[in-house]
Amino acid sequence: MATAVITGGTDGIGRALADAYLERGHEVVIVGTSTDKGKDFEAYGDRAHFLRADLSLVAENHRVLTWITERYPAVDVLVLGARFHRSTRVETPDGFESNFALFYLSRYLLSHGLAGPLGRAERPVVLNFGGSGQTGPVRWDDLQLRHDYPGTGALGHGGALCDLLGVHFSRVHPGIPYVIDHPGVVATSFAGEYDIATATFVDRLRTSGKPVAQAVAQILPFLDAPPAPLTAVLEGIRVPTDTPAFDPGDAARLHHLTEELLADRA
Ligand SMILES: NC(=O)c1ccc[n+]([C@@H]2O[C@H](COP(=O)([O-])OP(=O)(O)OC[C@H]3O[C@@H](n4cnc5c(N)ncnc54)[C@H](OP(=O)(O)O)[C@@H]3O)[C@@H](O)[C@H]2O)c1
Repeated sequence: MATAVITGGTDGIGRALADAYLERGHEVVIVGTSTDKGKDFEAYGDRAHFLRADLSLVAENHRVLTWITERYPAVDVLVLGARFHRSTRVETPDGFESNFALFYLSRYLLSHGLAGPLGRAERPVVLNFGGSGQTGPVRWDDLQLRHDYPGTGALGHGGALCDLLGVHFSRVHPGIPYVIDHPGVVATSFAGEYDIATATFVDRLRTSGKPVAQAVAQILPFLDAPPAPLTAVLEGIRVPTDTPAFDPGDAARLHHLTEELLADRA
């Protein structure tokens, strides 16, 4: 039986992808923080496993990795969809800016940490919701947004980091197709803590965005048949990856900086 691991699988696009893979007969590991939402998957019986974890914490990512690798020699699908936005800059107990920790670092840890099981699958694929070249530039001198915190722009910055994560991952693991998706505005829960002005804006997005089913229909064909080791998709259309947003030198630089950050913490 094929296995899918979906972070942010309790809501929004991740939730719809979890349902899609469960309906196809996959075994699905759903990672989120809400036990209540996790219970929704009980109807699928033993094929759905809800794992409660706060992925903004490094140790929680390692716990999830251990849980998965002890049970599954192969992982066919990895979806990296957890996000939680804050209008105000917050640091996690690890000392990382919260968007950096959840939107980028967790995805870094999980994708590289599952490269072994992904490599053992017959037709593996990784989906990371990134910027698809639309959301830079990277603030190289301030990766954790200490100065002039950009509000919702923090998500875009995380997306740009995820684009570079995809570039480096597909260079070191060319046999594991990596798809980066910017789905456009989708009517989801927009999990987060917002100030009043942003909350009003986000409330409008929750209703004006495209339906989740449309976003899933736009990305599933790329997951079923990834056209290249690295594919970037914008609202269902493949976009070039030979642009500055996907610069291999920048990707290697970010990888190196991330390894240093993690080593400093250890
Ligand atoms: N919606 C859009 O318009 C849009 C636009 C561009 C990009 N995207 C990207 O698409 C992806 C999915 O977004 P969405 O809008 O569908 O998501 P969403 O409805 O906001 O749901 C967020 C998910 O992340 C999980 N999550 C939040 N904090 C977490 C934490 N600390 N640890 C683990 N899980 C956590 C939530 O789980 P719990 O509720 O269980 O905590 C939930 O399942 C994201 O990467 C997002 O950036 C979305």
